[in-house]
Amino acid sequence: MRPGSATAFEALVDDYAAARPTYPDALFDALPPLSGRDVLELGAGTGLATAGLLSRDARVIVTDLGPAMLGRARSTLGVPAVVARAEALPFGPACFDLVCAAQAWHWVDVPVAAAEAARVLRPGGQLAVWWNDVDAAGQPWFDAQQDRLEAGNPTYTRTYRARAHDDELRATGLFSSVTTWTGTWSRTLDWPLYARWLRSKSYVAQLEDQQAFLDAEQVSLAAAFPEGQIVEPFRVVLHVATLA
Ligand SMILES: C[S@@+](CC[C@H](N)C(=O)[O-])C[C@H]1O[C@@H](n2cnc3c(N)ncnc32)[C@H](O)[C@@H]1O
Repeated sequence: MRPGSATAFEALVDDYAAARPTYPDALFDALPPLSGRDVLELGAGTGLATAGLLSRDARVIVTDLGPAMLGRARSTLGVPAVVARAEALPFGPACFDLVCAAQAWHWVDVPVAAAEAARVLRPGGQLAVWWNDVDAAGQPWFDAQQDRLEAGNPTYTRTYRARAHDDELRATGLFSSVTTWTGTWSRTLDWPLYARWLRSKSYVAQLEDQQAFLDAEQVSLAAAFPEGQIVEPFRVVLHVATLA
């Protein structure tokens, strides 16, 4: 079960664009070549990853099921944008060198979306999927936050994204290889921005008493980071699947 709803992001665009983490340069270095390549981004949202792809001179088309999220990507980045589900892409065969999904592949029906990606990729093309995961398990403030989330939203578990996405891609039989890269980075942010980041999550939007959760978080984080600057560590995981 996925916590929250795939369409919940539509009401969260401003918080999403303002407070979600971006992706480190090392991630874009680890991707297949981008310069001059035709890239299709799935679940592009407000374009947080798109900006990195464009900065590497990729020719990018963005898609997402949410017109509000995608509208933000189009207006801020001027990138061609098409409302579409990853499972039903409105493109002909063999149009792209690379299909990617940042923080979005866990929402899709993998066998269907992988087949769609394979269909629109040119021979030898690649599918790249990646995530930023908060890498703070064992830190009391983070463990307490996860306890509160699990108590407040019965559909949420802290391990909801801990799937073997690489094995799922292998199991489709569509790819000759699946490789994995991981990297770590961190960001520092104050409470108002951190609160917006929390509010941008689909499973926080589903909490019965979101304000009580945010109040508890504010107290907990003020104790953990008395200087007022919250240090949030991330682990980035990237899987790249190459067409058979
Ligand atoms: C967590 S956001 C990630 C947005 C962006 N890629 C980023 O890195 O910030 C997940 C996005 O996937 C989209 N999404 C969810 N299910 C989808 C599907 N089946 N097909 C296409 N987009 C989907 C949502 O609308 C949302 O914009």
